[in-house]
Amino acid sequence: MKIAVVGSGYVGLVAGACLAENGNDVICVDKDPAKVRLLQRGKIPIYEPGLEELVRRNRSEKRLTFTTALERGVRNSEIIFIAVGTPTGEDGSADLQHVLGVARDIARSMNGYRVIVNKSTVPVGTAAKVRDIVRRETTHPFSVVSNPEFLKQGAAIDDFMKPDRVVIGAEDPRAAELMKELYSPFTRTGAPIMLMDCASAELCKYAANAMLATRISFMNEVANVCDAVGANVDHVRHAVASDRRIGPSFLFPGVGYGGSCFPKDVKAMLQFAGAKNYDFKILQAVEAVNDRQKLRLLDKLKAHFGSLKGKRIAVWGLAFKPRTDDMREAPSVPLIRGMLAASAIVQAYDPEAMKVAKSIFGSDITYASNNYAALTGADALVIVTEWNEFREPDYARMRKLMRTPIIFDGRNIYKPEQMRAQGFTYHSMGRP
Ligand SMILES: NC(=O)c1ccc[n+]([C@@H]2O[C@H](COP(=O)([O-])OP(=O)(O)OC[C@H]3O[C@@H](n4cnc5c(N)ncnc54)[C@H](O)[C@@H]3O)[C@@H](O)[C@H]2O)c1
Repeated sequence: MKIAVVGSGYVGLVAGACLAENGNDVICVDKDPAKVRLLQRGKIPIYEPGLEELVRRNRSEKRLTFTTALERGVRNSEIIFIAVGTPTGEDGSADLQHVLGVARDIARSMNGYRVIVNKSTVPVGTAAKVRDIVRRETTHPFSVVSNPEFLKQGAAIDDFMKPDRVVIGAEDPRAAELMKELYSPFTRTGAPIMLMDCASAELCKYAANAMLATRISFMNEVANVCDAVGANVDHVRHAVASDRRIGPSFLFPGVGYGGSCFPKDVKAMLQFAGAKNYDFKILQAVEAVNDRQKLRLLDKLKAHFGSLKGKRIAVWGLAFKPRTDDMREAPSVPLIRGMLAASAIVQAYDPEAMKVAKSIFGSDITYASNNYAALTGADALVIVTEWNEFREPDYARMRKLMRTPIIFDGRNIYKPEQMRAQGFTYHSMGRP
């Protein structure tokens, strides 16, 4: 099939490359000329495992092209995905200016029947808004489909290629059939394609992210209670997770959720529920718990040291999670800002996010060339992101580099008894 994907970010680029990999002709459109130039040279602007190779292969097979010219994409494609950002607006709602602007521009370029697919995460009613805008701008026939994306950064290609489910909101049977055909190669292993109305499809994405955020905040609170009463959250988590009604996913305590999705989607769901006079109390608590959790390590540092003035703190991990360079809403940001406000000296390292970190912190912190270099003269190490390369470090080398061997592990990647045996003072989340 001939496809256009508008927006070449984490979602659009992955979707475009994966659709091309299954034999479709895909034109990726982005308004950022620098990004498009980079993509045309076979380079990708983000870190996502496997993506560069996929893009390169499909580019050289001529199934994947990049352009800033939306019109070219629209005129040459049957199905047009909108995969642009929906950031948080001033009142907490999803800012739809990019989605609606793209819808208008698509309509102006149409020269026949088109299926316009909302892949961006958008609140209920957006498909209807897109439909109204397009109808005002063109006399050509069209259908609007809601197709929320559930991929995870860091495993995005796998998630797109082998989804747990594909949700398609479509009120028009012709568009629904086209979408089913497009996705059938991705669901050969039996994942369901779920057809529904657009409003339900739009809500699916928010409900799924809100549920995952709820599990994280819930477990973070359980860990904090463990700290308070002297229980071990590892034992508690195992026991809870082995209940088949609950299961093990998203029950790891940590420093709070971040990224471009959970924080903004929780906010947007609170906002659109509130706009209909529904007070979504659980979700309010999920957000408040998360904001507090992002500073939990700072509280632990202050409880240990008293004053942080002049303390040299090494930070391992800046990205909001491993296997990405994304620092949007990353817990590392308020945590480091809190340390700096308390006059600590921060020496940070992340395997992928250093460039992004420099654009956030500038010269306020120092950037180490590797995780050991960050430890030089440190009064403590704070672990914020659980990159695999931090899991089995050279403990003797760490002790030698640090001024005092104190670790604050925000991701529970080590065993407390092992760390103590190695000579570290070790603080983690919810474990004595
Ligand atoms: N990142 C994720 O893990 C993820 C997962 C599922 C869903 N989503 C949702 O998908 C959407 C996109 O997210 P993302 O992380 O890919 O965003 P992103 O910020 O990484 O990428 C958005 C891209 O759209 C481009 N763009 C903006 N306006 C444009 C326009 N008018 N014309 C052409 N291009 C334009 C930007 O230049 C940018 O390259 C959001 O709604 C997000 O909530 C994201």
